[in-house]
Amino acid sequence: IQIPAGNFTFSAPSNIALVKYWGKKEHQIPANPSLSFTLSNCKTITFLRFEEKKTSGISFELLFEGAPKPSFEPKIQKYFERILPYCPYIEKFHFIIDTKNTFPHSSGIASSASGMAALSANIIALEKTLVHDKDEAYFINKTSFLARLGSGSACRSISGNVVVWGKTESIKNSSDLFGVAFSDEIHTVFNNYQDTILLVDKGEKQVSSTVGHELMYGHPFAEQRFIQAHQNLARLKEVFSTGDITRFIEIVESEALTLHAMMMTSLPYFILMKPATLEIIQQIWKFRTETNIPVCFTLDAGANVHVLYPETYKEKVQLFISESLAGYCQSGQFIHDSLGNGIKNLS
Ligand code: PMV
Repeated sequence: IQIPAGNFTFSAPSNIALVKYWGKKEHQIPANPSLSFTLSNCKTITFLRFEEKKTSGISFELLFEGAPKPSFEPKIQKYFERILPYCPYIEKFHFIIDTKNTFPHSSGIASSASGMAALSANIIALEKTLVHDKDEAYFINKTSFLARLGSGSACRSISGNVVVWGKTESIKNSSDLFGVAFSDEIHTVFNNYQDTILLVDKGEKQVSSTVGHELMYGHPFAEQRFIQAHQNLARLKEVFSTGDITRFIEIVESEALTLHAMMMTSLPYFILMKPATLEIIQQIWKFRTETNIPVCFTLDAGANVHVLYPETYKEKVQLFISESLAGYCQSGQFIHDSLGNGIKNLS
């Protein structure tokens, strides 16, 4: 039975990698495993309307906050083409997609992870109306699988607080094809862990992640970096069980700096940090030394800084952020976020 028309709405959060995905093989297979914290407040909310059609081929309209957004269309077209072999039913429908983000426009926060995750959640909701002999685990994994084809890191925004993507020895059920929720017990110090995103540079990304991943081909340090990612993931797994926050900080900050070191040592080379990024890092280190509060930073492929800290220190760290770090942000802007859970059905 096929429903002729209908609609869904799903939200999906952004995520922040602690062990970074940087470098990929064909078909969106990561060159190394990564691990991320799922966020809660920074989300994409996507409405999908599907209408049965007689013609074959991919057909969709794309709206951003209710208005047409031609600049997003090629990415969505490519996404549909990539998922078609796994979701042949999409050719039977015309889609109207309307999407919005909870975080400010051009804030430098990438919406590709949350966006591709939210769209994939909608596509799988449609699949569920057509396929009745599969269990929930199958659909969760397939949602992540589709999201990966849209944007690699999007596959870590589907389900779970802590998500691993990429086959690695220390995580038995890990896969290159989709993200899996970290299933071992996690020390209570990480409960509701906080992430404040400092908006240092809201401009267009200097290097797209597609170009960035490609720079790892023939990179002089690539092989060693990929080995290190496996090691750091195994170390982090141990830290999650012991609650050793000193080691946590060491791994997380080293991963962030390594990501940027890879960009600085590729050809062409890039410096994505801004003077304010470095100022903030210095301030975080000074604050940590002076107060003994275990606050640390991580970075994405840009100048913004993610400040990570346990919930216990929320008040003190947030005061430090608004009094000292906000001054380095563009228009004083930052976003308080914390560990979240993945996609939500808002239909
Ligand atoms: O998902 P992509 O292709 O945009 O790559 C994201 C890469 C980083 O954000 C820099 C790291 C990561 O693991 O999320």
